[in-house]
Amino acid sequence: MRECLAFDDVLLVPVYSNKRSRLGPDVSTSTIVGTLRLEIPLISSPMDTVTELEMASRLGGLGGMGVLHRFMSVDDQIKMIRSMWRSGSFPIVPAIGVGCRARERFDALNDACGKYIGMYSIDIANGHSILMKEMIDYVSARTDKPIMAGNVATGAGYEFLARAGVSAVRVGIGGGSICKTRIQTGFGVPTLASVMDCYETKLKTGLSASIIADGGIRDPGDVLKSIVGGADAVICGGVFAGTKEAPGEVIIDNNGKAWKSYRGMASESVQIDKMGGLKKGTCAEGVSTLIPYKGSLERVINNFVGGIRSGLTYGNANNIYELRENAEFVRVTAAGLGESHAYGTRK
Ligand code: XMP
Repeated sequence: MRECLAFDDVLLVPVYSNKRSRLGPDVSTSTIVGTLRLEIPLISSPMDTVTELEMASRLGGLGGMGVLHRFMSVDDQIKMIRSMWRSGSFPIVPAIGVGCRARERFDALNDACGKYIGMYSIDIANGHSILMKEMIDYVSARTDKPIMAGNVATGAGYEFLARAGVSAVRVGIGGGSICKTRIQTGFGVPTLASVMDCYETKLKTGLSASIIADGGIRDPGDVLKSIVGGADAVICGGVFAGTKEAPGEVIIDNNGKAWKSYRGMASESVQIDKMGGLKKGTCAEGVSTLIPYKGSLERVINNFVGGIRSGLTYGNANNIYELRENAEFVRVTAAGLGESHAYGTRK
């Protein structure tokens, strides 16, 4: 049996650093996703409590990228794309699914605003599948825009999508903070192990598709671990949910505490809202929850970019690719993990 490590199982070993400041002009957090250059390796998830117009525009303006979710009408998605186009020069990336309805959505988007789109994101639970291949073929026969596709959990899944012609692969199954796939089906691989498997395949095959770690990113350290494992960027849902820019109202509870809702796209609550309920014979593979209101997205990004820049100096790297060259993982025990957290605050 293979052993597969998760973010919390590992740490990065500090090395001699000749960097005088993490803020130095030579320290860069930029990356390439497919053919798009991002100033920060952070992407917001195509989920209906994470990325609509406000999140995609703001995150794009801050140097990252938001993927507009697909659980809205085509007209609404087109309106958001046009509005993003008018307001800035950041990447516009709409999500689409697979199957007949998704083809219609793609055709409508392509006709109405294809020229504004930086990349299409084909977004399904299991991207290592015939349905995904058929959709990639459909889209790539009709546009030369790059495609991001996923999710997959293995090097074989990465190779399948990269050979099908996509520019970026979303990697991670069941690791998200609102996911129940692993519990409901027994399937999944820790996201870091999936990323490392995909990166090994990328090196072995010489394929160039970017690797995007998706699911389970909680802190900036997880971004750095993903990068060292082989990711070019990460996708976050829970990290960006709960911000002012995430869709949905702020909910104030009886104690005056502020919350926003965050839910998995395979949760029962989404099925009820969007499809009139769970289909007979299916089950929910995600959950719905409230998370504390976090204020502006910019605060969250500052914390993440601060952590990434600091991590680059611990790894004596000017950029994320040098970091990957320089850094070494070590495996930690449960005691080591306990020591990593700010345990002085434990009551
Ligand atoms: P985080 O940890 O950032 O995870 O909150 C977000 C990612 O989780 C995936 N996702 C789901 N996975 N059931 C799942 O098993 C779901 O209902 C679900 N909704 C989203 C997706 O990859 C997202 O980016």
